[in-house]
Amino acid sequence: MNRSVLSRQINRKQIDSLKNDTKALSSFLQDQNDGMVVHVLEKLGRLENGDSKQPLLGLLNNNNETIRSLAIKNLAKMGDVSLLNTFVNFAKQDKSTEVRRESVSAIGRLRNEKTIPILIKLLTDKDPKVVMQAIRGLLVFSNNSQIKKKLSKLINHPNELIKEVIDKEINGVSYSSENNGKHDEFPAFLKNTVVQGDVVETLKYVPDESIHLTFTSPPYYNARDYSIYQSYDEYLRFLEKVFKEVHRVTKEGRFFVLNTSPIIIPRISRAHASKRYPIPYDIHPLLVKMGWEFIDDIVWVKPEASVKNRNAGFLQHRKPLGYKPNAISEMLMVYRKKTDKLIDWNIHQYSWDKVRKSKILDKYETTNVWRISPTFDKFHSAVFPLELCNRVIKYYSFVDDLIFDPFAGIGTLGRAAINLDRHFFLTEKKSKYVNRMKEDLIKKDNLFNQNESQPKFIGIKNFITLIKEKI
Ligand SMILES: C[S@@+](CC[C@H](N)C(=O)[O-])C[C@H]1O[C@@H](n2cnc3c(N)ncnc32)[C@H](O)[C@@H]1O
Repeated sequence: MNRSVLSRQINRKQIDSLKNDTKALSSFLQDQNDGMVVHVLEKLGRLENGDSKQPLLGLLNNNNETIRSLAIKNLAKMGDVSLLNTFVNFAKQDKSTEVRRESVSAIGRLRNEKTIPILIKLLTDKDPKVVMQAIRGLLVFSNNSQIKKKLSKLINHPNELIKEVIDKEINGVSYSSENNGKHDEFPAFLKNTVVQGDVVETLKYVPDESIHLTFTSPPYYNARDYSIYQSYDEYLRFLEKVFKEVHRVTKEGRFFVLNTSPIIIPRISRAHASKRYPIPYDIHPLLVKMGWEFIDDIVWVKPEASVKNRNAGFLQHRKPLGYKPNAISEMLMVYRKKTDKLIDWNIHQYSWDKVRKSKILDKYETTNVWRISPTFDKFHSAVFPLELCNRVIKYYSFVDDLIFDPFAGIGTLGRAAINLDRHFFLTEKKSKYVNRMKEDLIKKDNLFNQNESQPKFIGIKNFITLIKEKI
């Protein structure tokens, strides 16, 4: 039964009256089906009345692990040390990891020195979730040098989340920035600027933490004419260098959205096979290692008629192994610059008015599958559809932010940024694409009416001179 049906069957008032009547609560929990019991246990809140322990204790032998774990959770809210042995028994013996974890959490919530040896023992448990709860309980006593010593040993634990907590809580490792600049501002000389030149060279002169959002589609290895690399490894090293710099220039906790897809390099003759390169999967570990935290994967789906047909052969022969699906998707991998701060911290760096203006009040995409037709351009063979840029900018930035595309092509991201009341910073090495951008971005009917917002097109040498003057 779904939650809204259950809510209609029993309202808040009825749940509150059960809370204050131990007998009624007891018979209610015995009579109802599992769905209703779970619903009431989730809504019960803190039970003040000591008698209410009995109906909950009665549920600890229930076959349903969710009911057992919710009963423990509600008992834990009472902060009653006489329940310690019950929690310890369930932490040791229950066959469900959900119940064991909840029991260890309950022990920790007692915040009582009696729990210390029990929690220390649980640090060697096989289930990392149980260990995590034991750590949580012990952190309350982390001023005690013995406990600190025990916890610091867990830095050698195989589980990555445990190591991360120990690093942060015991070893004081911080991913927070020491930059004192205002989060919602950026260096004025980057505003609406297009640098024609190599991105790696250009980024050397961009100050730390200048950018609010990067969205880019890098060259597709050697699949298109605009880029030639000696090897796939050289290509990946190049992207690694660029994205390390993007990481440095990105503000604390802000986003980087990377559009790539596996590409195919055609065979040289019928005697050879073509080769497919899984670009997003090969770049991902490099990004995580340099300090980008993986947030989401969005699949951009195109109409089948718009992509190259690869299954004409299969249509004829229908033999297994020779199947080749038409590739109608590309990936948008969403990363955040790793920080200890929560997203709420980022939002709170903006004025109430800016947050209000940035809200997405119209229809929005609810899934990670974005159906958008590709854009074909006679000037450039791989441009973003404007709609793709619009969505990324709206969902991952605020008005007046600085949006960056290191591989700008004909500057689609810049156009979208301006239309959405943001600013852009773009780099593109080929003059023919930068010239095309000039036509687009300086159109009379464009929104660049005020002088200060006029886009600047600048060669890399002049950019370096400009930066040296400003810093
Ligand atoms: C896939 S396209 C991006 C197209 C862009 N999203 C658009 O909507 O027009 C990649 C672009 O990166 C540019 N590029 C390749 N290597 C570069 C480098 N080292 N520095 C700057 N731009 C580069 C290419 O010239 C190409 O225009």
